Amino acid sequence: MDGKVLRDEILVELKAKIEAAGSPAITLATVLVGDDGPSQRYVRSKRQKAEEAGMISRHTDLPATATQAEIESVVTALAADPTVNGILVQLPLPDGRDEEAVLDLIPPEKDVDGLTERSMGRLVRGRPGLVGCTPTGVMRLLERYDVPVSGQRAVVIGRSTLVGLPLALLLARKGVDATVTLAHSRTADMAAVVRECDIVVGAAGQAGMITGDIVKPGAAVIDVGISRTDAGIVGDVDRDSVAPVAGWITPMPGGTGPMTIASLLDNTYTAAQLQGVVAS
Ligand code: GUN
Repeated sequence: MDGKVLRDEILVELKAKIEAAGSPAITLATVLVGDDGPSQRYVRSKRQKAEEAGMISRHTDLPATATQAEIESVVTALAADPTVNGILVQLPLPDGRDEEAVLDLIPPEKDVDGLTERSMGRLVRGRPGLVGCTPTGVMRLLERYDVPVSGQRAVVIGRSTLVGLPLALLLARKGVDATVTLAHSRTADMAAVVRECDIVVGAAGQAGMITGDIVKPGAAVIDVGISRTDAGIVGDVDRDSVAPVAGWITPMPGGTGPMTIASLLDNTYTAAQLQGVVAS
């Protein structure tokens, strides 16, 4: 399952839609606090792809020493600025900062990351709203590659609010209809759980934890995990042993990462629609 190809298709469609709407100014505001290398790279990619799609990228870089009040004041100003359509605060914030308090300042119609309690509440309640980018990206990969989902057994390993929890909800939603297990670090006999499943999503950040011997032949295996090792960034899926067994597999990198960005830009377009900048 090639996330880069699908991302590029989504970007081309988005660019065409924006041009067809008369190229209105659609602005994605990104906020990065501190100097974590991978976070800097992720945000750079998000900004670059936004511009490629015909959007305006507005970025605020804050030093690792920025106080809670300084971060909150930047987000408050972006929330109030009518020219800003989407706000993304890259996580994690440096130690000691209160992420929840920062997210609370993002209005749901600008919450292109789908992370605030109101956006997540809408997802739980089945109401229209902006849904998290990585979970949405995984759903799009499954759809694009015609992976059967309805009635199938799926396991999501990892219960983060960024990925695992919303993805489990999306897979179980009416109309999608997977039977979902949300597994985590305390799950007893993880191998037995994974072996039963037709769809396996690794979102735990445990390098190489999903191995070929525990994967059901023909299963779709999706890697969202990120571990920073001496050998570079490694996913949760041990690709060498899983690829010969799986029916579908995402590469790492080049799978769910690019899809996160595609979903972010799609969400930014939807946010602009919610704000009346482009027609719905
Ligand atoms: N950190 C890692 N992934 C993400 C993401 O999708 N959004 C934000 N805001 N921070 C992240």
